[in-house]
Amino acid sequence: VSTRVEVKLGERSYDIHVAADALARAGALLKPFARGVVPVVTDKIVAALHLETLASSLAAQGIRVIPVILEPGEKTKSFRDLEQLCAALLTSAVERNDLIIALGGGVIGDLTGFAAGILKRGINFAQVPTTLLAQVDSSVGGKTAINTAHGKNLVGLFHQPRIVIADTGILKTLPPRELRAGYAEVVKYGALGDADFFAWLEMNGGAALQGDSGKVEHLVAHSCRMKADIVARDERETGDRALLNLGHTFGHALEAATGYSERLLHGEGVAIGLVLAFRLSAVLGVAPSADAGRIARHLRACGLPAAIGDIGGERPPADLLLAHMMHDKKAKDGKLVFVLARGIGQAFTANDVPMEKVRQLLNE
Ligand SMILES: NC(=O)c1ccc[n+]([C@@H]2O[C@H](COP(=O)([O-])OP(=O)(O)OC[C@H]3O[C@@H](n4cnc5c(N)ncnc54)[C@H](O)[C@@H]3O)[C@@H](O)[C@H]2O)c1
Ligand SMILES: [Zn+2]
Repeated sequence: VSTRVEVKLGERSYDIHVAADALARAGALLKPFARGVVPVVTDKIVAALHLETLASSLAAQGIRVIPVILEPGEKTKSFRDLEQLCAALLTSAVERNDLIIALGGGVIGDLTGFAAGILKRGINFAQVPTTLLAQVDSSVGGKTAINTAHGKNLVGLFHQPRIVIADTGILKTLPPRELRAGYAEVVKYGALGDADFFAWLEMNGGAALQGDSGKVEHLVAHSCRMKADIVARDERETGDRALLNLGHTFGHALEAATGYSERLLHGEGVAIGLVLAFRLSAVLGVAPSADAGRIARHLRACGLPAAIGDIGGERPPADLLLAHMMHDKKAKDGKLVFVLARGIGQAFTANDVPMEKVRQLLNE
């Protein structure tokens, strides 16, 4: 089976194709957007595993691939790599109406999308996400960015892809820890806006993480549908789109406090952040306290951390975490914008959360 999800953005609308064998069929899906030659930006790990499948699928449509292969890892989202990537793309003589393909996780997608957005004032690009996180989150919605010394994702722009092709079969080669980290973002969708989906995940998420392909396809497609809806309502995050940051104010602070290292992957920080957001909601009296426990139980059952104490090594102090939260770009006029919830599936934004309550929670 294969699912098509539309991101409705007027003339910038595009389709997300979700299927277990989408990569092998990508050539036909990409052909309407491509000329005879397309640069495919990817990283070394993904290139070794999956570039050939994409290249031969394109070759079958008479399209030749120019591979641009970068180092894997977050460090690649830098000005230096952006400059080199732009040079490589210009050398490959991309024209204004050409297509650039991003084949990889969120790092490749964010960097390539940004390069496509600024090269010749904007070139078409396609997302072919290869991590669960990229399939359910970063490849959809048009946010692109690189990191600077001042922080993550601080330089970038909105540039929507022309098409997203999510091959869920490709996730079989993803390290299990990366798969679980991406799954935290899937749980986020249930927690923020769909209690039925959350209940489905409680029943089926474990099997999906074990590789049940029908269930993986369902959860990717459903997550994409939810993100597509929110992005269609609020492309530039002036309102509803902020709900997608559920768990992220805490998560980013935890990532920063652990040095963006192997100690804590982004999705793992989000997992802990989700539980903290629901616990904060309970402390503030807006959500039943049982919901935080329910989310924590599901995350732990899936092998994800659910409390600050689950992070290996020394516990990050509350003051350090608070300092990182104030620094986060989601801080507005010195006050923290939090995504809270009235219960599972009922997130909302609040900008009047007393710092003391947050500090207490971080110390517990
Ligand atoms: N633009 C957005 O809206 C948005 C949203 C969320 C996250 N992000 C960004 O996404 C990035 C994280 O993305 P990520 O988690 O995909 O990390 P990533 O791109 O670094 O990929 C993780 C690792 O998995 C490897 N890999 C990728 N696909 C594989 C596969 N199929 N099999 C085996 N290995 C594979 C990669 O080489 C890498 O080593 C961050 O930079 C974050 O800021 C962006
Ligand atoms: Zn995230």
